[in-house]
Formats: sequence, structure tokens, C-alpha cells
Amino acid sequence: MIASALPTSGPSVLAASGLAKTYLSGAQRLQVLRDVSLQVPAGESVSIRGESGSGKSTLINLLAGLDAPDAGRLLWLGQPADADRRAEFLGIVFQSFYLIPEMDALANVLMAARIRGAVGAEQRRRAADLLARVGLGERATHLPAQLSGGERQRVAVARALMNAPKLVLADEPTGNLDERTGDAVIELLLGLCRETGTALVLVTHNAAHAAKCARQLTLHDGTLR
Ligand SMILES: Nc1ncnc2c1ncn2[C@@H]1O[C@H](COP(=O)(O)OP(=O)(O)OP(=O)(O)O)[C@@H](O)[C@H]1O
Ligand SMILES: [Mg+2]
Repeated sequence: MIASALPTSGPSVLAASGLAKTYLSGAQRLQVLRDVSLQVPAGESVSIRGESGSGKSTLINLLAGLDAPDAGRLLWLGQPADADRRAEFLGIVFQSFYLIPEMDALANVLMAARIRGAVGAEQRRRAADLLARVGLGERATHLPAQLSGGERQRVAVARALMNAPKLVLADEPTGNLDERTGDAVIELLLGLCRETGTALVLVTHNAAHAAKCARQLTLHDGTLR
């Protein structure tokens, strides 16, 4: 059984307001985000589309607290975003999986718990349950190199949910997968988030995947609409 965290009332899971980000490279100034605001209530799914280079990954990195905005405010559950809370607050799924090559599927899922603190029998059981839930119960001892692309991304989905986060950020999670495999990964991601009351921000180029989210947004000219 995967512990469920049903949506509760209270502060938004994610509240970003007025986020701005400019990159400097040499003499060039590139303002990627001008004024981005986004509120995500508990358990909601939101898709973000936008042209290549429009700043989607930049935004995901800001929302994850992996990079700092030049201006604006970011709250996680009503409190200022703080790297010390990241591992318990959110899970991230990237386009290129980012699994640790030397570790098998189970150890990769457990990494999320390891970052947060101790790994014991309870965490091992949960990691194994999550692997089974994404259809990889028989692949727990496979290294990433011994998994297909879709299987690797399913491991990454299990890892993202390992700490029962309030929010999952996914940056083109199907970008390296064929269409059918990508569809299956999205179904799994949306289904698991729904089942556990986890909010989801999904960056995607795929209109059909975006349409499966409760709310659809587009990033254009540095703002989100
Ligand atoms: N570290 C950096 N330094 C300078 N410019 C950067 C940096 N990171 C990204 N950029 C530029 O910022 C813009 C937005 O990049 P970003 O990766 O956020 O786009 P994206 O919307 O995710 O695109 P894609 O759909 O191709 O993934 C691009 O023009 C990119 O060249
Ligand atoms: Mg990107």
C-alpha cells in the first residue's frame, strides 16, 4: 500500500509571484522570465507548454529552489522555499532521468529517502511497493543500463514519489521516449499523483498530455498565462 495524502485545505502547495530571471553571458543579457505567478492548490495538476527556449526549464529550476530568481517570491506550503525542506516537499522528474548508473532500480528509488535521512525497513518496503506500482516489481535489481528508457523514467517517477511529497515537478518527462511509452509514463504519473493527492506541474510539448491536467498554462514572453 502506498500511503495516501489526501488534499487538505490551507495554504497553496506552491505560490510563486512576480518571478523574474535574466541570464548574463558575456555582454549579453537575456531576460527569460519577466513576471511569472503561479498558485497550485493541494492535489491539482497543471501543465505548462511553451516554445523551446521560452524558459520552462528555467522556471522549473526556480520552482524547485534549485536556482534563485532575480525578483519575486516563492512559497512552499505558505513558507518561503528552503533547500532544507526540498527533499520532503517535492519530487522532480527530468527529461533525461538522472538515475545513478551504479545503483540498481531499488537503490535509485531509495536515494530520495537517503537524501532526507535514514533508510530503514519501512523505506525499503515503500520503495519496493512503488517499483511494483510502476510495473517494475521484477526489475528492482536491474541497473539503469539494464532498463529501457520507459522503465528508467518509471524508476524516476517512483523516486519522485518516494518521500510522499506534496508536489511533483516534471520537466518534459516524455521527451526522450517514444509516443506509446510516453503516454504510459504520463498515465502512471497522473494516476499516482491523483491517488496520493500530490500536486503536479507538468512541462510538456505534448498537447494531449497537457490536456490531461486540470489546468493548462502557456509560457510566452516571460509570463505564464
Ligand atoms: N545558464 C544559462 N546561461 C545563459 N542562458 C541560459 C542558461 N540557461 C538557459 N539559458 C537560455 O534561457 C532560455 C530559456 O532556456 P530554458 O532551458 O528555460 O528553455 P525551455 O523552455 O526549457 O526550452 P526547451 O523546450 O528546449 O527545453 C534559452 O534561450 C536558453 O538559451
Ligand atoms: Mg526545457
